[in-house]
Amino acid sequence: MAEETRYLSLNLYVRNSGYHEASWRISSADPAAALDPRYYVDLARVAERGVLDSVFLPDSPGMVRFRSAHLPSTGLDPVQLLSAVAQSTTHIGLVATVSTTYTQPWETARRLATLDFLSQGRAGWNIVTTAEPEVARNFGNLPHPPHAQRYERAQEYVDVVLKLFDGWSDTAAVMSRADGVWADTTQITSPHHHGRHFDVEGPLPLPRSPQGRPYLTQAGASPAGMELAARYADAVFTPQRDVPSAVAFRGRLREMTAQFGRSADHFKVLPGLPFLLGSTDAEAKALHTELEDASSDEFRWRNTAHLAGLDHTTVDPDAPLPDHILDAQPLTSFGGSIYQLAKQAPAPFREVARRVSALPGALDFIGTPEGLADLITDWWRAGASDGFTLMPNLLPDQVDLFVGHVVPILQRRGIARREYRGSTLRDHAGLPWSTHPHNQKPTMQQPRLAPGRGSAGVER
Ligand SMILES: Cc1cc2nc3c(=O)[nH]c(=O)nc-3n(C[C@H](O)[C@H](O)[C@H](O)COP(=O)(O)O)c2cc1C
Repeated sequence: MAEETRYLSLNLYVRNSGYHEASWRISSADPAAALDPRYYVDLARVAERGVLDSVFLPDSPGMVRFRSAHLPSTGLDPVQLLSAVAQSTTHIGLVATVSTTYTQPWETARRLATLDFLSQGRAGWNIVTTAEPEVARNFGNLPHPPHAQRYERAQEYVDVVLKLFDGWSDTAAVMSRADGVWADTTQITSPHHHGRHFDVEGPLPLPRSPQGRPYLTQAGASPAGMELAARYADAVFTPQRDVPSAVAFRGRLREMTAQFGRSADHFKVLPGLPFLLGSTDAEAKALHTELEDASSDEFRWRNTAHLAGLDHTTVDPDAPLPDHILDAQPLTSFGGSIYQLAKQAPAPFREVARRVSALPGALDFIGTPEGLADLITDWWRAGASDGFTLMPNLLPDQVDLFVGHVVPILQRRGIARREYRGSTLRDHAGLPWSTHPHNQKPTMQQPRLAPGRGSAGVER
């Protein structure tokens, strides 16, 4: 079979009025729009016009009080919100963040399989372990588990979810009116899972979803995060600042993926790419200055401490971070990038925080559509990424600009698709339909409940 042309995977990160903390103060959208599903539908339709792979909603199951004073607190449940978006879109993939630390796998598997049915095969799950300790208090009296324990639980959690996704074989729902048989239950496998963190006995009460397995993404750059991604994920979101380190990161992850017996060619590295576009560099810089001027200095240093995993009430903003903090193991990979900035040019923490770009340790592009298209092309050609997680600093206008001015350049260069080549998110990403363990043999008949399945390199 002729090899499919590879295209960039472009995934649009949508957080209220944009990724920049002050975006809501100058956005053309009303600050309340981010609580209205129509706002997300409009953004998803623009992304669909640009033939992007997916929209992605971040999430944390809690509120950090000091953040909510300045940052829009618009934490609508991503799975429910994307279920609404699914009804008014036809192609765009819908990736919802769900925490493995503060939910249960059976319930998550059912919610994601439901989203996959509601969207006819466009569901994705961004697997996160939740870094914020405050969240623990919403879920009982246990303390927030440390990093290693969160990832250990995540591994078992994803394993259970996959067993549940794979519980019904592709032909289990026979729906034979003539024989009066709805399902052949010999083809439904219970997980019988009894592990360290979970006891999950029974299967899902619904047949295998249109993609077989919804698309799985993971956002984590620590060794444990990378291992989780390499074992299970179809794509990883990651902060990467330059081509050489991104090439090394991607190479390492591809090797790890192969070690877990998976094809590295079916695994995407999608660095987070915050950006701000203008018709000239000067115009983009002026917009950035406008955003920075609308930011709160007090919020910035507190939020930077928070991203580094520090309790901001213990940090003196007018002094450099003390050595015992800088020399200790960072509590998050964002912390690693922030400590590095503090060590490079020692200064009061307040000033260090001003240097922190939108996503610590990541690119932060400010310039013209041509400049952004060049950056994307250079990274792609150098093997530094398989696409990007686009993080517009200002919504909705910056997505219009990206789709109207950057996408056409990438299409002319032959690295962005001009049209969708299938209908599922796995199709857009050029990934095989996820093979069911019961269906390894090519003798099985085509599954009945699989709209759009199989148009991109089906593994059968
Ligand atoms: C593009 C991107 C998006 C992320 N989105 C979320 C999110 O929605 N919810 C969340 O709890 N963490 C999110 N994270 C943070 C990661 O889950 C993770 O905590 C962080 O990258 C630190 O990595 P580590 O846990 O491997 O140390 C995101 C990270 C990146 C790079």
